[in-house]
Amino acid sequence: MPQSFARVKETFDAWAMYQAVVDADYMHHAEIVATLAAWAQKQTEPLRIIDLGCGNSWLATHAFKNANIASYHGVDVSDASTLAQENIAIWPGRAEVVAGNLADFLRAQPGASATVILASYSIHHFSSEAKVELINECRRVLVPGGTFIWIDAIRRNDESHNAYIARLTGVMQNEWTALTLDGRDKACTHVRESDFPESSSWTLDHVAAAGFKLSRSILARDFFRGWAFTKT
Ligand SMILES: C[S@@+](CC[C@H](N)C(=O)[O-])C[C@H]1O[C@@H](n2cnc3c(N)ncnc32)[C@H](O)[C@@H]1O
Repeated sequence: MPQSFARVKETFDAWAMYQAVVDADYMHHAEIVATLAAWAQKQTEPLRIIDLGCGNSWLATHAFKNANIASYHGVDVSDASTLAQENIAIWPGRAEVVAGNLADFLRAQPGASATVILASYSIHHFSSEAKVELINECRRVLVPGGTFIWIDAIRRNDESHNAYIARLTGVMQNEWTALTLDGRDKACTHVRESDFPESSSWTLDHVAAAGFKLSRSILARDFFRGWAFTKT
């Protein structure tokens, strides 16, 4: 039975709340943009990017604005996919963002059709079983030597799901003051209902088992981590 993303969609349809989180840098977008931009500058071939759960494509268009982009395909289940159209105008004729479930989108992509798959803060909305399927699909869709960039909410290795959610929502309630009180309540409810973070070791083990090699760390913060993996 496929997971329902109706509540996730509802949260991100009201994009302003998440954009306030991005603008206040609570999820370290500035560091992610700088790290991805530096990584992209070192790539020798034009990039063919798939962005899973792209939102309004703020992250990709900031990180890759000076990169050599052959194509960019974003997908998002929320109305943010409409907002993305303005941002991706920096890549005329080479970029599109569609509305839909990223798992269905990925399944529909031909094998070896992307050089980069970016999944930033989106995969933690899936169950563990569905995450494993997504990892395998990413490997199928990437060219050999292609890069899977996975940034997400990640638990400490010795931490339970409930302990992580309690710790994160505590920080959100007390420290995410750029959001209104109502906004913080809504954001915490979203995290309690719709976030299923894995631990670092679960993530690294399952990505390796699917046939990827860790190439570099992208983000190493307390609640949030990211890595770039190469398809072997
Ligand atoms: C926390 S936001 C991250 C947005 C952007 N990637 C970033 O890093 O700032 C999560 C995004 O994933 C999208 N999303 C969650 N589940 C999805 C699914 N099953 N299919 C497509 N998009 C999904 C949400 O709509 C939302 O825009």
